[in-house]
Amino acid sequence: MKLLKSLTRRALFTAALIGVAAGAQARSFEDIKKDGKIVIATEGQFAPFNFFQGAKLTGFEVEVAEAVAAKMGLKVEWKALSFDALLTGLRQDRWDMVIASHGITEERAKAVTFTEPHYCSGGVIITKNPAIKTAKDLAGKVIAVQTGTTYQENVKKVSAVKEIKNFPQDTDARAALASDRVDAWVTDRFVALNSLQANPAAGLKMGDFLFIERIASAVAKGNTGLAGEINKGLAAILADGSYAAISKKYFNDDIRCK
Ligand code: ARG
Repeated sequence: MKLLKSLTRRALFTAALIGVAAGAQARSFEDIKKDGKIVIATEGQFAPFNFFQGAKLTGFEVEVAEAVAAKMGLKVEWKALSFDALLTGLRQDRWDMVIASHGITEERAKAVTFTEPHYCSGGVIITKNPAIKTAKDLAGKVIAVQTGTTYQENVKKVSAVKEIKNFPQDTDARAALASDRVDAWVTDRFVALNSLQANPAAGLKMGDFLFIERIASAVAKGNTGLAGEINKGLAAILADGSYAAISKKYFNDDIRCK
């Protein structure tokens, strides 16, 4: 018993040390400035926000991040990884910043520091069946979502859903709906619009918002100096028309939070 207690205490102590060390290791804005480039991670499978055009990483968030970095006087080194690795990698100091359409949630804010939001959106219901439109209509249905997203979290809150099918990529969740393996797919409104436009023959229909959210980039927990500089850069592109131009190019609309 005593041994167990002391082991537990030691494990807790080690965990605390690792936590502190991870925070301490995160590169400050000054370190990054000296280096001249910021390392940014994204997924690259969430069009039109972050995706690959052939071998080239592109998208609304890629262009916004590059414009922000330019205001900060920095070049960008991009990393593309699976969605579930992104925030974890911040804690291990494998990159300086993540931009991958993360909604600001209380749970995530315990582990990372969010910047100001770069757009506002929400999760919508997409189906082939026009009778499924609202949260209520999801009762008894099988729903596809990307693992670890706010879509998964919010579908869990809907009562009487028959089954939630989780997919590592949002594109797999969409494919499950396209091939009738599920009744509905919940994803971002702009991702849904993009996919409906790209493939009108698929017969997908967009229903109601399930929830709305503010989307932001993230830095290592407590790296407030870096977050502050990113916020300044973001404010600058929101003010000088460059954000508006990028947003118009992708959405024919200005999607900043109002
Ligand atoms: N907005 C959702 C969330 O906060 C989904 C983000 C998905 N991003 C991606 N790159 N697949 O969880």
